[in-house]
Amino acid sequence: TQNPHEVSRVKNLNLIQIGKHEVETWYFSPYPVEYAHLPILYICEFCLSFFPGVKQLTRHRHKCTLQHPPGNEIYRKDEISFFEIDGRKQKGYCRNLCLLSKLFLDHKSVYYDVDPFLFYIMTMRDEDGAHFVGYFSKEKESADQFNVACILTMPQFQRMGFGRLLIAFSYELSKVEKRLGSPEKPLSDLGLLSYRAFWAETIVTLLVEQQKTGIELTIDDIAQRTAFQQMDVLHTLQNLNALKYYHGQYAIVLSDTVIKNAERSSKKKRREIDPKALVWKPIH
Ligand code: ACO
Ligand code: ZN
Repeated sequence: TQNPHEVSRVKNLNLIQIGKHEVETWYFSPYPVEYAHLPILYICEFCLSFFPGVKQLTRHRHKCTLQHPPGNEIYRKDEISFFEIDGRKQKGYCRNLCLLSKLFLDHKSVYYDVDPFLFYIMTMRDEDGAHFVGYFSKEKESADQFNVACILTMPQFQRMGFGRLLIAFSYELSKVEKRLGSPEKPLSDLGLLSYRAFWAETIVTLLVEQQKTGIELTIDDIAQRTAFQQMDVLHTLQNLNALKYYHGQYAIVLSDTVIKNAERSSKKKRREIDPKALVWKPIH
């Protein structure tokens, strides 16, 4: 869909201010023309409304009482929360979110029709409220079994493990739905790097655990346990060079290097998603 305000595809805004952060933008986003080419666009970090100046934002903050995204909190563990937002019920917020995220997503079209999507907003809580860190969107009914449409960690929070949390959360939802899921294609370079790392780490951890039981897992078993689609499992095993052909059939064999790398990365102290902290039922 073409936005009537959209005049050019050239990157329009250079800088946004959101919460305590000033963030350089990456790509064009179809904000209304009267907001394009401002030196800084000011964004309310809770409702994602945008303003041409600091004065207008301050005036807005006196009226806007939100201290978290406008949706149901379906997960809370330590300072991390997830809010589920229905595009049909919170059109304004979801449109603002799409405009904001388009600044960092090149290959995705912005959805003006947000009705068919659910939005899962990840926040970090402090004494001022639940601050927007990242999100993913998800079609309510995906013909292709996609469990993520768009995924984003705000640039000021990237490379800190939050993308991994978002991805892990998307698969926890799929497990509850008893479905296998995969992100919508094409993936960006950063999306591909993050998914590959997540798939590999999850599968290797599972296989190392499984070795102790002496029972071998098939690709289908791995898919069922992780909610990853079989193709993603297969490609990950291929990338790990873990598929060996013995006596007329394939076996999954992890090299010592792969196992050592997995042990090293599992020692990194990182936030994890705790499935017990998820209180959620699918809509269908
Ligand atoms: N360079 C190399 N490896 C990377 C990079 C990078 N810039 N970013 C992520 N990775 C890999 C690493 O293996 C990393 O683990 P490590 O830090 O322990 O080495 C792993 O991915 C996970 O990194 P996180 O810190 O958990 O991910 P982050 O919070 O940075 O979020 C995301 C990743 C969401 C893809 C982020 O880069 C982003 O928002 N990018 C812009 C939007 C985008 O491209 N989204 C995906 C589009 S595809 C889709 O929407 C379906
Ligand atoms: Zn607001």
